[in-house]
Amino acid sequence: MFLEHFRGFISPRRILVIGNAQGWSTIALALIFPEARVVAIDPDQAGVEFTNRLTAANGLSAKAVVARSPDDVTRVVNKHLEGPVDFSLIDAIHENKAIKVDLAAVRKVAADNAHYLFHDVINWNMIEGFRELLAAHKLQGKIFTRTASGMALAYSNLSPEFSAYLDCFTDPPGRFGILRLNAAASLDPIAAYQICDVRPR
Ligand SMILES: C[S@@+](CC[C@H](N)C(=O)[O-])C[C@H]1O[C@@H](n2cnc3c(N)ncnc32)[C@H](O)[C@@H]1O
Repeated sequence: MFLEHFRGFISPRRILVIGNAQGWSTIALALIFPEARVVAIDPDQAGVEFTNRLTAANGLSAKAVVARSPDDVTRVVNKHLEGPVDFSLIDAIHENKAIKVDLAAVRKVAADNAHYLFHDVINWNMIEGFRELLAAHKLQGKIFTRTASGMALAYSNLSPEFSAYLDCFTDPPGRFGILRLNAAASLDPIAAYQICDVRPR
């Protein structure tokens, strides 16, 4: 539901998914953005083949490729997207270092105003990595405390309408810190509080 309504605010033409698995999000993005070309990479051949059977059977504009971030990103984008990425889902290795490496690889082949959506940022303790990649790339960001896994979006700018929509999926800082993250001993509620709406430092 959260991602589905992005189509009311943005119209990406070239979408790159880092981490395809069995293709759930690849297919979801192809359904949400039927005008876009979606390419997903993953080293897992069985998942890639399964995804491509599904996309072919349903006539979707999406393709999964056996490839690995960061080394293969530029080659895959040049070959299969033929232009700058304007939306990327980063959902591969769930570590702070890895999301920074993935983002850097995609940035090299992305449009200036691309959007970068990260899965599992809260649940997998990647708030610090997200904060660091925003600073390194002078991007702004939001972490979505009201999504199941704590997704996050990095961007250079948003329309006021899209920003208002996205803010429906964040909590007021005080409530977020007290009611939700205080219960999770491994998380830092202050860091999460500060990152809910982040601007370059
Ligand atoms: C959390 S799953 C992805 C879930 C997927 N986006 C979905 O919608 O179901 C992570 C995936 O990242 C893949 N992966 C691991 N290292 C990778 C890398 N360096 N580049 C691309 N994908 C990688 C794994 O094989 C795994 O399938």
